[in-house]
Amino acid sequence: MMKVSITAILISFAILFTLGKSDEAIFDIYSTDEYANDEINTVSGQYSQLSNDSLLWGPYRSSLYFGIRPRIPRSLLSGLMWFNVDSYDAIGNLRHVYEQGDNMKKANWVSYDPRTGGRLVVSDQDCHIDVIIDFVKSEDGKSWGTKIKGVPHKGYEKVKTSFVWYSGLEGETERIDDYGNKVSERNGYLNLENKKNVLGYADNVKLSGISEELGLFELEIGKGPKSNKHPTDATLLDPELDTSKSHHYSLTVPDDHVWKARDIFMTMLMESVKELTNKYGNIQEFPPEQAFIIRDLQNFEGNLHFVQNVFEGKCEFDVIYNNAVTPEEDKITFDNINTKAKKAIKAFDKKFSQSFDLKAPFNKDKTHEKFAKEMLSGLLGGLSYFYGDHLVDRNTVFDEDSFESYQLQGSFEGPHELFTLVPSRPFFPRGFYWDEGFHLLPLLKFDSDLALEVVQSWFNLIDDDGWIAREQILGPESRSKVPEQFQVQSPEIVNPPTLMLIFSELLESIQNSNTYGDINEPQQVSDYGDGKTFDKKDLGSIIIKNPEVMTDYAKRIYPKLKTHFEWFRRTQQGYIEEFDRGTNKEGYRWRGRTLTHCLASGLDDYPRVIPADIAELNVDLLSWVGVMTKSMKSIAGFLNYENDFQKYQKIENDIVENLDNLHWSDSEKTYCDLSVDDNDENKHICHKGYISLFPFLTKLTPADDVDKIEQIVDLISDPEELWSDYGIRSLSKSNEFYGTEENYWRSPIWIHMNSLILESLQHYSKTSSPYMSKGLKQKISETYKNLRTNVVNNIIKQWKRTGFVWEQYDDQTGKAKGAKNFLGWTSTVLIIMNMDETI
Ligand SMILES: *[C@@H]1O[C@H](CO)[C@@H](O)[C@H](O)[C@H]1NC(C)=O
Repeated sequence: MMKVSITAILISFAILFTLGKSDEAIFDIYSTDEYANDEINTVSGQYSQLSNDSLLWGPYRSSLYFGIRPRIPRSLLSGLMWFNVDSYDAIGNLRHVYEQGDNMKKANWVSYDPRTGGRLVVSDQDCHIDVIIDFVKSEDGKSWGTKIKGVPHKGYEKVKTSFVWYSGLEGETERIDDYGNKVSERNGYLNLENKKNVLGYADNVKLSGISEELGLFELEIGKGPKSNKHPTDATLLDPELDTSKSHHYSLTVPDDHVWKARDIFMTMLMESVKELTNKYGNIQEFPPEQAFIIRDLQNFEGNLHFVQNVFEGKCEFDVIYNNAVTPEEDKITFDNINTKAKKAIKAFDKKFSQSFDLKAPFNKDKTHEKFAKEMLSGLLGGLSYFYGDHLVDRNTVFDEDSFESYQLQGSFEGPHELFTLVPSRPFFPRGFYWDEGFHLLPLLKFDSDLALEVVQSWFNLIDDDGWIAREQILGPESRSKVPEQFQVQSPEIVNPPTLMLIFSELLESIQNSNTYGDINEPQQVSDYGDGKTFDKKDLGSIIIKNPEVMTDYAKRIYPKLKTHFEWFRRTQQGYIEEFDRGTNKEGYRWRGRTLTHCLASGLDDYPRVIPADIAELNVDLLSWVGVMTKSMKSIAGFLNYENDFQKYQKIENDIVENLDNLHWSDSEKTYCDLSVDDNDENKHICHKGYISLFPFLTKLTPADDVDKIEQIVDLISDPEELWSDYGIRSLSKSNEFYGTEENYWRSPIWIHMNSLILESLQHYSKTSSPYMSKGLKQKISETYKNLRTNVVNNIIKQWKRTGFVWEQYDDQTGKAKGAKNFLGWTSTVLIIMNMDETI
């Protein structure tokens, strides 16, 4: 909890930034509809507008249980908080930020499509209530509504719960006033429409606002149906504490402070409690549901508004945001929100079954379907919009020979924006370059347009050198979740380029499915009249179905990708000729490793070459460069950039050759890192585990090299090495570092890696088929079938036991561990369930 002095600061901010309800700023409120740019006349522009509208609003503040914002840098931020008021200390469990340690039986979207809405369920075991939240959007995407229901747990039918909704409008401009002072002016307003009443409001609380980007809008926080009960058993000790009323409090906060709503609320509440104590003596006389009502002590109005309601038992209320431009018949109302919410869930179900086809044995039981829907919804519930500056150290140059960790000194760069999924809302609520490619795999099946929006948002962050920060910690809210020593990003450090994986996957699927027919003859999906080519219902696969749009997209990102590709290879180049390794230069070394960790590789504590040496070449890194090269080749091919295509083809061939020449060990029968011994002679360093599989996982092992494939399959399927009953473990049981120290990548099972293993087994069972023996074929299909069921069954078992999916699974017991609600990589389970039962 924050100290009271914050109040003083906030109030002085309030005075500093007050503007009142003047008419100073006159906006063209219809500017959002005025797309006079040339773009809109093209098919791409039409797509872009349609897509932007449908993705404008969402629960994009995904680090909260429920927080709504638009994809606009400084705008209207809203959020929900709740706490139990049966006792004084229950307020310690006030819910706002989704925390790993919160005592939740479940906290996840169970049905959700970012374009339309869905349902979130939070089963709160400390507040003894299920909070069920439906979120819906208007057809034009510009308005939204949410229905919040409280369902008490058995035995707690009279539970008292306090709900707080807040909305804050950010956006200010700095200017120099007549006296030469720098002053900040608000770019918009958010005002209370009700007549101010310190005693509370018997009716809905209504706010109205205006901002440059949103235009005119209204926000109404309902009191809910007559069936709602408010605590009435205690005598009302002060007229300002009536629990049957809605209570409102407002203040002014500068930009980048609305996210502190919880602390601000708590501070104000403590102020109120202090004042009550002064007035009435011991606060213990007050029932908690009264004591913890926020009071309007300053009688002030600013850009941040809190609205509080206190209920007893089962309850519900709605919050509705309507933009003035949304047509009347499309607006969300207290009367139609229920129907719209049901419709959204139905639409999700339909789209889900069109996108996924769960295969045996995961298609028999309703639980499997429920689980699969929750995986997708939960993953998409992590779709977030970030805006802000970040810390970068461009000065520290890593010394080649020192493998110490560096204390980086960051300076601010940006602000940047990023539209991304997150690995885990409670634990890693920010963008991770190495994770994102895997996040997009399930999304690609559900809504490839959305996946490509995310890809584009990421690639927009590539700087002129070609660098992109591996962890995107944008703005103070994101920074508040990261320990200081991990906040600074360095251009010396890369991460596995998984987003490139997506791109080649996508182009491959387009080529395979022949979606385009003849690429030179653009086809149009339909013609909706008025020159409109697309309708909202086409969203989800417009880009891949329309060569014109796809070409524009590819052309836009290609130059960025090219600089990124070149930067990546340049900065991670390893020594080849210096150590007599031939003339083929394709060999790479992860920069920035320490003696124990190679964070750049993404497999942090996986054992590497010891003693560390600049002669080291990493097999996983060469494989990743191979993935990048293949992607660049596909895009260049797609765009008919013949010269580039040839260049990439040559690099790819060199990579395939060197994976064999430099990294395959005949004696160990596996792929290994390469280093040198004391006499500078080349030497393989082999720690069998995920690293050994990389050329196979990235499909760079030649299909006719069946001896290698057989040896890889043997390694995977041997219980003394990588096989466990719950999935493929990260490091071989026979390795000296197995299960030691932090044990992060030294035995646990990671689901995205298992998903890649299954895909590669599937791939080679086809492509190597002409070259393999019957025995090998048999071995591959058995391994595949058993691995697939082992992995899925265990994740579901642990999900039933804990209510969540997790970061990793123990290879001995199958037990879930690490970060909770880890829908990032673990949601690739959906891909696995969607794969064929047998190959
Ligand atoms: C859609 O949004 C993106 C990202 O904010 C932006 O770059 C693009 O110009 C927008 N398109 C249109 C047609 O407004």
